[in-house]
Amino acid sequence: MIIIRSISRMVRVAQQARRQDKAIGLVPTMGALHAGHLSLIRACRRENDITVVSIFVNPVQFGPQEGFKKYPRTLQQDARLCKREGVDIIFFPDAKQMYPDNHRTFVAVDNLSEVLCGKSRPGHFKGVATVVAKLFNIVSPNSAYFGQKDAQQAIIIKRMAADLNLPVKIKVLPTVREKNGLTLSSRNVYLSDQERKDAVVLSGALNLAKGLIRRKVLDSSRIIKKMARLIRTKKTARIDYIWIVDPDSLRPVKRINGHCLIALAVRFGKTRLIDNATIK
Ligand code: PAJ
Repeated sequence: MIIIRSISRMVRVAQQARRQDKAIGLVPTMGALHAGHLSLIRACRRENDITVVSIFVNPVQFGPQEGFKKYPRTLQQDARLCKREGVDIIFFPDAKQMYPDNHRTFVAVDNLSEVLCGKSRPGHFKGVATVVAKLFNIVSPNSAYFGQKDAQQAIIIKRMAADLNLPVKIKVLPTVREKNGLTLSSRNVYLSDQERKDAVVLSGALNLAKGLIRRKVLDSSRIIKKMARLIRTKKTARIDYIWIVDPDSLRPVKRINGHCLIALAVRFGKTRLIDNATIK
């Protein structure tokens, strides 16, 4: 396994691999790797000749109060995990290279970026789309791997790749959870013991919704009310949003009659957690 820090070297290595007809898979991450990331890495390894994991805490996707500085940075441990998983290349650029002072170009995916998480995190998805587009250009992957845990992010990346005719297959893999249902997230390290216990209610609320839908309760506002009531039983929980939306347009659906995405964001103390479920 090699760690590449320079963009120009990453481009050279990738181009050479492509000339040799090797399939490159990219797993974009911000590091602090956990079993959720590892599931993407494993899928990537199965389906490609070369697996590149990018580790870059992307400053432009963090709002002013969103903890860019204190985001966990654990390169040594991440490198150990990647090596164990058989990763070929860690791409680890620094912010000066990715965003030199004269950087002026950003990718905006309209409509999809302003709703759900975009509402309380203005500019976030512009930052995500921009860095992912840059990573695609640098690494030129045949396929790139994303988690369903960040459902809106995956939808936006798919839209961007289609709209900009980027020659990359976007693969979305299921959310990895703890046994108690809590989604694995690099942000879980910020939770106190009590908050961590309370946060299990997120998957509980999604299961409640699924149960209601199974019993033919199809009115979104009724389902959302019941989910909110359950979440509010936890003292440390403050709901940011609960929405039931169409998984392509992200527009709210009033009555469930097919495919939909149930998405929520809840703060526990200072930590904002998200979770979602898709209904087929
Ligand atoms: P990060 O939060 O490090 O996540 C990297 C990838 O891992 C994302 O595609 C995310 O959806 C996936 N992931 C995280 N937790 C997961 C879980 N419990 N189960 C399955 N997949 C999970 O998302 C980002 O970084 C950044 O926004 C990035 C795309 C790298 C752009 O900067």
